[in-house]
Amino acid sequence: MKFFVDTADTEEIRELADTGLLDGVTTNPSLIAKSGRDFFDVIKEICSLVDGPVSAEVAATDYDTMLEEGKKLAGLADNVAVKVPLTMAGLKTCSQLAKQGTQVNVTLCFSAAQAILAAKAGAAYISPFVGRLDDIGQDGMNMISDVVQIYANYPAFQTEVLVASIRNPTHIVNSALMGADVCTVPPQVLKQLVSHPLTDKGLAAFLADWEKTGQKIL
Ligand code: E4P
Repeated sequence: MKFFVDTADTEEIRELADTGLLDGVTTNPSLIAKSGRDFFDVIKEICSLVDGPVSAEVAATDYDTMLEEGKKLAGLADNVAVKVPLTMAGLKTCSQLAKQGTQVNVTLCFSAAQAILAAKAGAAYISPFVGRLDDIGQDGMNMISDVVQIYANYPAFQTEVLVASIRNPTHIVNSALMGADVCTVPPQVLKQLVSHPLTDKGLAAFLADWEKTGQKIL
């Protein structure tokens, strides 16, 4: 399973990239707004920090403008994945950009039916949002299970399932059990993944016992 981090905060990205755990980055207009920085500067900087795909989202809603925006974003760096919304114009843009060899991440997916269309449009990634479905009382992980199964039925579909809108470590573990390709994770959830109270307790006990030996490794 690949891990992308869902942020436009370059300091957080730098810190996580140094761990070797990071396979890519996703941003969206809300995360860019939160960064308070110039969109193009942020995307170029992120692309220099990670080798993997960096999703940069178009802002237009009509096909012609979306396509031009997509081409401009794709030209920023070799590892940009253009992010388009799951609308008819977004799917048409995806299809066109994919034919030109650009990686496209189709975002704002809330149903397996929508995910089928993204695969047919040649998306490199489909981003089904689990947390936002959970928020309205539906089960986001059911959608992931359906999408993974459907894509497995059609080997011609090359689209990777990129689980988005992740709220907690359980979303990640269940995504892995279901065989999703990628999770895009907020930095705080990525840090939660590593924590376990028994790890902390066990480490404290080992260190105390080691101290009693009076020995040193270095
Ligand atoms: C990912 O590409 C999405 O932009 C992101 O996961 C949305 O998450 P949210 O529902 O927490 O805003």
